[in-house]
Amino acid sequence: MKRRNLLKTGAAGSLVSCSAIARTALGRKPKSDAAALRYEKVVQAARAAFPSPVKDGASDGRFSRLFADALHVFGMLRSGKTFWGKRAPLDYGAARKARMANPMGDARKVVRETAGYLEGMYNWSHPDVHRLHGSATSVSIIGQLYGTLVDANLVWDDLSYRVAEAEVKAVSIVAGLVGYDPDKASGVFTFGGTGTTFYGIKIGLENAQPGAFAQGVKQPMRVLSSDVAHYASISSAAWTGLGTDAVVPVSSGDDNAIDLKALEATLRAIIGRGEKIAAIVVTMGTTDAFGIDDIASVHALRARLVQEFHLDYTPHIHADAVIGWSYCVFNDYDFAGNPLDIPASTSESLQRIRARMQYLALADSIGIDFHKGGYTPYMSSMFIVKDAQKMGLIRRDNTSMPYLFQFGEYDPGVYTLECSRSGAPVLAALANLELLGKQGFQGILSHSIGMANLIKQRAEAIPWMVVTNGGNDGAVAVLRVYPDGVDAKAAYEKEMRDPAARPQLVGTNDFNRKVYDETRRMAETGRTPVFVETSRYRKTPYGEPVVGIKCFTLSVFTDLQSIDNVFDALRTARAHVITAKV
Ligand SMILES: Cc1ncc(COP(=O)(O)O)c(C=O)c1O
Repeated sequence: MKRRNLLKTGAAGSLVSCSAIARTALGRKPKSDAAALRYEKVVQAARAAFPSPVKDGASDGRFSRLFADALHVFGMLRSGKTFWGKRAPLDYGAARKARMANPMGDARKVVRETAGYLEGMYNWSHPDVHRLHGSATSVSIIGQLYGTLVDANLVWDDLSYRVAEAEVKAVSIVAGLVGYDPDKASGVFTFGGTGTTFYGIKIGLENAQPGAFAQGVKQPMRVLSSDVAHYASISSAAWTGLGTDAVVPVSSGDDNAIDLKALEATLRAIIGRGEKIAAIVVTMGTTDAFGIDDIASVHALRARLVQEFHLDYTPHIHADAVIGWSYCVFNDYDFAGNPLDIPASTSESLQRIRARMQYLALADSIGIDFHKGGYTPYMSSMFIVKDAQKMGLIRRDNTSMPYLFQFGEYDPGVYTLECSRSGAPVLAALANLELLGKQGFQGILSHSIGMANLIKQRAEAIPWMVVTNGGNDGAVAVLRVYPDGVDAKAAYEKEMRDPAARPQLVGTNDFNRKVYDETRRMAETGRTPVFVETSRYRKTPYGEPVVGIKCFTLSVFTDLQSIDNVFDALRTARAHVITAKV
């Protein structure tokens, strides 16, 4: 029997024949098909649960119907609310009691049960969901799905074939976009924005102490980032073995960007003590306020210090641009001619963003999240280095990987932390890069900025509200609300400057937590906006954390109605707190 036909019979026929042959070989009497062993019947049923590896009408039909059923069930979860389906209380107790059943389940039933786990999840695309993760395009969802269907493994091209080509292509497109020379740059997709920082710090560590890959860290080594940077640097320092104490938080200015004077003083102190610098992590778009570090000045400072102290290495600059990278689409936008008719206030914001983002290529490596600024599903993150040779610093010895890389042209697995690495995030990202092009991104980002600016403008006009990140441009407004009888602007100003205002600041923090909690309680209906609380938007100069209510405008579906809803919800929640309804 030809293999193709053998596969097509798909079930007991081929199995029974095979096992009959096996039994003959073992000297046992062959059994008839009807008398097939029970496990063979199980395999027969199990085979029907896999998509057929060859064209097979019955199996293909089964798969398509199951898929259609899955999409149908999913469609039923669309309720118009801010979450999918219903939002019942979570029951971890029951989940912990779960044990594996004995018999096989039914595919359709399993799909329906699986869909049940989607219930209650926020619908990221919903215009009233104001979180740091926005809409994912249809093509990126399909890209992710295709990657899953063929199950590409990017450890090398033997296991991923053209999906490997897709990774190289996506890296080249992004390299060109951020201003790297695509012929010299290199990159890989990895496990989230944290993974990109992890790679940046790891390469920086090897750069500062060659041979650390084999021998471990032998000398005091520091990582610098601003005090409003994401904790990805802290995680990476811990997991590289540098230790979290190696991370030196450098103070930031009112614009939520790293304070250059403080950075210089910190660098001088570190170098003066004879310690090394694994990485200076600049943040190109902070998590809360969208502060953007002045990378050009950081780069110039590094050059000065390397020369002045005759350093035998150049400290690595890693740019955490996981949120901000996509604004590079404006690097060559003609703001004067303004072909997209971007409104003036949005254009001014975008030009201020560009003033910093256009120097992103000064970084030695960059972290990029497509699941933040790139409209893909979780998770799709790219680490990219300006000089491909730098990847050689984290290359393993080939003899340690006897199972792989005997042939082929593309073997990122020799330096990636991961061995198996799914191709799905690559296809999701590439699909978006190709679908949206620069113009698509320009349009969506302009919309997000316009919506965030509108929230800020309206908030500024409300006497009981302040915008804490008014000095930042980005798709987020960080708001702070005050009780009645308080001049919010004056109170905030005092809280931010005067240590004597500490009790007032602590009280306002508490008030904001209560108002935020009330917005959450109201949002359980699925009919009112979903915000994010930050328990430390930044610290005051006297060290007290400032609580804020964050409102992202990343969903492409954010519109004027959703902006009205933002203020209605905050007004109602505040009133409930004041009248002690909560
Ligand atoms: C600025 C910044 N860097 C890094 C990260 C970590 O990214 P991920 O959650 O994808 O690991 C985040 C997440 O919000 C972030 O805002």
